[in-house]
Amino acid sequence: MSLTTAFRISSRRAISTASARRVDLRSTSFRRFTTAPPPPPKSNTALYAGIFAFTAAAAGYYLYTSDSESSREAATAAKSAIQTGKAAVKFTPTKEDYQKVYNTVAHILDEAGEYDDGSFGPVIVRLAWHASGTFDKATGTGGSNFATMRFEPESLHGANNGLHVAREVMEKVKQQYPWISYGDLWTLAGVAAIQEMAGPKIPWRPGRVDGLASDATPDGRLPDASQGSQHVRDIFYRMGFNDQEIVALIGAHALGRCHPDRSGFEGPWTFAPTTFTNDFYKLLFEEKWVWRKWGGPKQYQDKKTGTLMMLPTDYVLTQDKNFKKFAKAYADDQDLFFKDFSAAFAKLLELGVPSQQFVASEPWNLKTLEEQKA
Ligand code: HEM
Repeated sequence: MSLTTAFRISSRRAISTASARRVDLRSTSFRRFTTAPPPPPKSNTALYAGIFAFTAAAAGYYLYTSDSESSREAATAAKSAIQTGKAAVKFTPTKEDYQKVYNTVAHILDEAGEYDDGSFGPVIVRLAWHASGTFDKATGTGGSNFATMRFEPESLHGANNGLHVAREVMEKVKQQYPWISYGDLWTLAGVAAIQEMAGPKIPWRPGRVDGLASDATPDGRLPDASQGSQHVRDIFYRMGFNDQEIVALIGAHALGRCHPDRSGFEGPWTFAPTTFTNDFYKLLFEEKWVWRKWGGPKQYQDKKTGTLMMLPTDYVLTQDKNFKKFAKAYADDQDLFFKDFSAAFAKLLELGVPSQQFVASEPWNLKTLEEQKA
């Protein structure tokens, strides 16, 4: 890590309990569409033209069928979809354009003011993960392709509590770059957040398209933190991950914190929740963890300071034999963790996206703000 990066990170606000500063932006929502998606495009331009035609037709259908109460809202949403479509048809973004989006997100991360620990990074990583982690490999449904968390009821699923904060921040970026799909925006923002919080490079490429509320998956596809190793395996095997990848992915809990008004759990996992490290695993093994005595859901706290927490699903990484093997390896070797996390997170972000939709055959490495200064 360079000195400037270290300074940027250490100058972020230390752990605070300040409440969320809500950004008052509402995402648009479409419901009751019945049309089918367009066939796979032959080129980028065709892809965007297809999205435009589909969105416009669907918007028209909505207006035709809506009742008067919701039709004003639908009309606004339809107009915005049509504008987005027009922008997309006229414009074929390059890697440099996606780098610009990355840079805008990277700057916004630190504009969090009193919010949490002074960064939107952790909640944006959680958005990227929850938008992708609905994938079911058996049916090919869910995943990051359609960004269906924009719609109710998925936005209201219990596991997604609090993610409106990240979606609203994303909405500001979307207004600046109307040509980008929400799925690409949210996953790219997850990449920017990891990389800017001193994490590993995450290979990423665009190609996701905006779907409809009807593409959403049922509630219950994301993990329940109060469960054990069998549940963790059931959830992640369904997405197509193995034990090593599961353990690597959960290491993202080096970042951020739990919020009583979101999940019911409380507190950060590490002392530096806006810096990506292998501290999560180190603390799991080095500290003594005891059940917290409180009125909330069962969670662990560190015996020494009582200020850190572990979820029951985190703690099983020290109890399950095969999980423990990988968790110990990551506690001992941050480079190994970074390498494995990068591969697993890149895979997570592409779940549910048909390969012909990707505009590049290989994922790209986007530059950090720091690298661009060089
Ligand atoms: C067994 C698997 C997992 C469970 C049960 C789980 C559960 C949770 C819970 C309960 C929270 C607190 C939410 C809140 O109250 O705000 C949380 C936060 C978070 N999770 Fe996970 N998670 C899992 C896996 C993952 C994975 C795979 C990632 C990313 C690769 C991830 C990234 C995060 C981040 C960054 C936060 C902090 C968000 C913030 O600070 O606002 N989690 N998780």
